[in-house]
Amino acid sequence: MTIERNARILDVQSWDDYFLFTVECPAIGIEARPGQFVMVKAAAQAYPLLRRPLSIHDADTGGIALYFKVAGVGTEILARKTPDDVLDVVGPLGRGFSLSGNFAGKHVLLVGGGRGVAPLFFLGKELKARGAAVRILYGGRCVTDMPLRERFESAGLALSCSTDDGTYGFCGLVTDLLDHDRALESADAVYACGPDVMMKAVAERARAAGIPAEFSLESVMGCGIGACWGCVQRIRNDRGDGWVKICEEGPVFPGDRIVWEE
Ligand code: FES
Repeated sequence: MTIERNARILDVQSWDDYFLFTVECPAIGIEARPGQFVMVKAAAQAYPLLRRPLSIHDADTGGIALYFKVAGVGTEILARKTPDDVLDVVGPLGRGFSLSGNFAGKHVLLVGGGRGVAPLFFLGKELKARGAAVRILYGGRCVTDMPLRERFESAGLALSCSTDDGTYGFCGLVTDLLDHDRALESADAVYACGPDVMMKAVAERARAAGIPAEFSLESVMGCGIGACWGCVQRIRNDRGDGWVKICEEGPVFPGDRIVWEE
């Protein structure tokens, strides 16, 4: 874990409420693994006090990319940043997707909903580099919820889209698209990130099909380093189930260990 107090914003792209920052922070970029996150301080002044957790959208030796949607005071302040502004970034944090084993020739399905698609770009690139055939199902409420379509395609990742209102791609939920395309039938593994209701539906389908699946959980986070208990989730273990800190033990968990809320 590194603290970069002067992480310079190199580039900002925006689409309505969605933002993509390229941030210069080489120490974090080198260490980052798909599924990990950073804690970003939005403002130099005291308010808002807490850092904002953001998934690492992409990483290389120069730094990281962050993709987020404005959803509160912290992200509103971040959205006003421009190139050459600096951020205070702590990371990489948490446990990302498990990428052990041989992925050559494997068919891997990534399912993302709305802003939850953020970590799947880094993951998709990594899996492709390891020889996997990667397919991404990307869902949103409408076409303006899905500004990263071209970015995924330009990285050579096979993309299928759905919108709830039919303004782009398949008309329906991304889980309807999953069923319609029988996408699980050819999958060796599934990774997903998005709203809980979406991930729970994907988890049920993956379990029924006997396919290993991992899910990146979102949570309010106070500290990001296991100190505040602000991010707990019920997780099954050998002795039953109990509360664990998402920021320490996750944010990525195997589907069969997550106790989903009804
Ligand atoms: Fe503080 Fe997880 S955010 S313990």
